[in-house]
Amino acid sequence: MPESPDARSAADPARLRQAIESDVIRAEGGVRRALAAAVREAVRSGRLTPGTRLPSSRRLADDLGLARNTVANAYGDLVAEGWLTARGGSGTLVTDSVITRPAPGRSAAEPSGDTCYDLIPGSPDLTAFPRAAWLKATRRALAAAPDAAFGYGDPRGRPELRAALADHLAGARGVYTSPEHILICAGVSHGLRILSEVLAGRRARSVAVESYGPDRHRGLLAAVGLETLPLSFDPHGTDPVPPQGTDAVLLTPAHQFPLGTTLQRDRRTAVVDWARRTGGLVLDDDYDGEFQFDHRSVGALQALAPDSVVYLGTASKTLVPGLRLAWMALPPALAEEAVAAKGQIDTCEVLSQLTMAEFITSGAYGRHVRAARRRYRDRRESLVAALTQHAPHVHVTGTAAGLHTVLGLPPGYEQQVVQSATRRGLKVAGLSRYRHAQSPHVMGDALVVGYGTPSDAAWPQALSALMGILS
Ligand SMILES: Cc1ncc(COP(=O)(O)O)c(C=O)c1O
Repeated sequence: MPESPDARSAADPARLRQAIESDVIRAEGGVRRALAAAVREAVRSGRLTPGTRLPSSRRLADDLGLARNTVANAYGDLVAEGWLTARGGSGTLVTDSVITRPAPGRSAAEPSGDTCYDLIPGSPDLTAFPRAAWLKATRRALAAAPDAAFGYGDPRGRPELRAALADHLAGARGVYTSPEHILICAGVSHGLRILSEVLAGRRARSVAVESYGPDRHRGLLAAVGLETLPLSFDPHGTDPVPPQGTDAVLLTPAHQFPLGTTLQRDRRTAVVDWARRTGGLVLDDDYDGEFQFDHRSVGALQALAPDSVVYLGTASKTLVPGLRLAWMALPPALAEEAVAAKGQIDTCEVLSQLTMAEFITSGAYGRHVRAARRRYRDRRESLVAALTQHAPHVHVTGTAAGLHTVLGLPPGYEQQVVQSATRRGLKVAGLSRYRHAQSPHVMGDALVVGYGTPSDAAWPQALSALMGILS
């Protein structure tokens, strides 16, 4: 059995916020009572472990948009009840002797028949959606929005959001663009559908894609009659320069999905040279670019050639996929066609756009992304440590960024491991499901493990279940 990650890691104030804020928002009774109940439940269920230090009442009140007195009084109630201990200079802590229990009917380590831990890559931790901060941003955005914002509007998306994104992406990902060349869309998938139509309208015939990647993206291209050509692959990663006559190339340069490699420097230059030379288009899918670990920061490929590269970013990993909020930074020469392909009817819902703009400009997005980066880096570390201890024969790759990693298996084991995991209530994906059917390259057997989806509370059990299968 792997060791649980350090129980006191829940001391991070961002995690405490995540643990309680949704309950507070949902509460119908008094806020003080609701806050106390949420903290009690977080302690009882083990989301807040004994010894965890709570943020100061002032800080939590600010974060949750509550009066400081409300938080101080709720803390006072919990101290009186024995859940919390007030320690003068060292703040308020979860009482050491408090007894926690797992959720009714579940054993801590073993999933019961219907318990299912989801390690399929693709989703972030949905329980970490910053409900209170999002609500606060929605209120502010609604109060500030002109009436005209609620009309059909500009098909490119709200100007507030395009301006906020141009600024944010320049700083966070090095993207070189301006608000008028940004197009808001409902997910990278929607962006790819728009771009497929633009390419088809230009009579393009083929798009080169990575040998391994999401089937649904290849499907979007194929749906308008574009042929997808698998790129070659070697031990250094994808060779991104497509065969002669190809019209465009779709890449995940910062963190290849699913293999986790980074497009090498000379190959980055080679593919933009190809685009400039041939007039071809490069599609830079930067789906998890905000989650780079170990002080590494590989910027967007788009910055090398903004006239030839479309940048695609999404809130699906940094926030949640349910928002269906994404953006493209378009080469100026492509902007008009892309806007026309998106069309007036397909304008994305305005309130989320205004909220996202407020969320970014207020700094809440940056704070949320930093906390999420810490959360996923911790999970990656606990995964690597557990593998070293319990399954040292498993070769781990692609750990430098993102929310997933690749675990190499002995030849012939992939399907067996996936099936045995499924029987034991653990959803995992085999690498082979991402392979382009015409790819001449066949990678060895492996699992692609997404560590984003489980909640903080479920992660140790999900990790145990995975180790039970691999060791
Ligand atoms: C490679 C890749 N790109 C983009 C996305 C995000 O897609 P969307 O923005 O449509 O949710 C994902 C999600 O899993 C992905 O795996």
